[in-house]
Amino acid sequence: MQARTSRAPSRMCALGDFDADWLRLRAPADIRARAPDLPLLLRPHLPKGPALKVLDLGCGTGSNLRVLAPSLGGTQHWLCLDADDDLLKRVAIEIRAWAEATGCDWDPRNQRITQAEPHLSCTLETRRFDLAQSSADLPIDGVGLLTASALLDLVSEAWLCDLVARCAAVRVPMLMTLTYDGRVAFEPELSFDRDVIDHVNRHQGRDKGFGPALGPGANARLAAFATAHGYWVEMRASDWRIGRSERALQAALIRSWCRAACEQAPDAETAAIRHWQRVRLAVVEQGCSRIRVGHRDLLAIPRPA
Ligand SMILES: C[S@@+](CC[C@H](N)C(=O)[O-])C[C@H]1O[C@@H](n2cnc3c(N)ncnc32)[C@H](O)[C@@H]1O
Repeated sequence: MQARTSRAPSRMCALGDFDADWLRLRAPADIRARAPDLPLLLRPHLPKGPALKVLDLGCGTGSNLRVLAPSLGGTQHWLCLDADDDLLKRVAIEIRAWAEATGCDWDPRNQRITQAEPHLSCTLETRRFDLAQSSADLPIDGVGLLTASALLDLVSEAWLCDLVARCAAVRVPMLMTLTYDGRVAFEPELSFDRDVIDHVNRHQGRDKGFGPALGPGANARLAAFATAHGYWVEMRASDWRIGRSERALQAALIRSWCRAACEQAPDAETAAIRHWQRVRLAVVEQGCSRIRVGHRDLLAIPRPA
């Protein structure tokens, strides 16, 4: 997370803004954190057909595709939606760099990733789409998998309820990953950690464009809505475990948490919060700090009718 745990440093998650630098900084922690068994459990429940259509909500620079497409394999078409044009413009650039690093082929003209073994042929389509304003027009028809990563703690209860109802109506599986759950553990601990994170978690409930955000409550609400709509639900911890050497990511998080906590706390507490930030950053600089940030991945499969 970043003040919205899974978000950005400069413009940062506390405000619901993200930038490509922040998404790149957090990507290694995201990749390590994701529950590896959920794509395996999902595979037998995907529709059989010429190409699996995947709808990725709040795609950022496409990290969800880069992780998930190879683990699902076969022939896929991804429609990646985001409200931020700058991030959408970076999707193909990041995919090209990733393809070069991993030995996949990237065909820019047809926006296609291919890999021989195991077989993957995946076409990419990006679309500017404001999920908060246009959810009634969500292009869900014919979709075989709806997915999102690091998005759901931004959305409101009403928005999430409506999304699950729409998915249930067309019986589409959902894989929602890296949703912040409110747990943060520092090593070494400081006595003021809990106070800061309590403020941050309350800050997470501010409106990020969808109405009051679910923040750390998003996983529980998603599980409840999906179960009520007849889905079989599997949830896994997918915590960020940020090591001592990952100083830039730790520093970005600590700064964003300090900003969020100062916005949320009474004025009388801001000096103590800033002091906490100074101490925490010094520990990071010394290479002695580790941080664990709680996230969850959730797989929802429609039960047989
Ligand atoms: C934390 S980032 C996650 C990005 C990407 N899924 C990942 O895992 O790296 C949240 C994403 O949601 C997008 N987002 C936030 N509000 C949105 C909205 N109303 N409509 C569409 N996208 C939105 C942001 O632009 C950002 O790309």
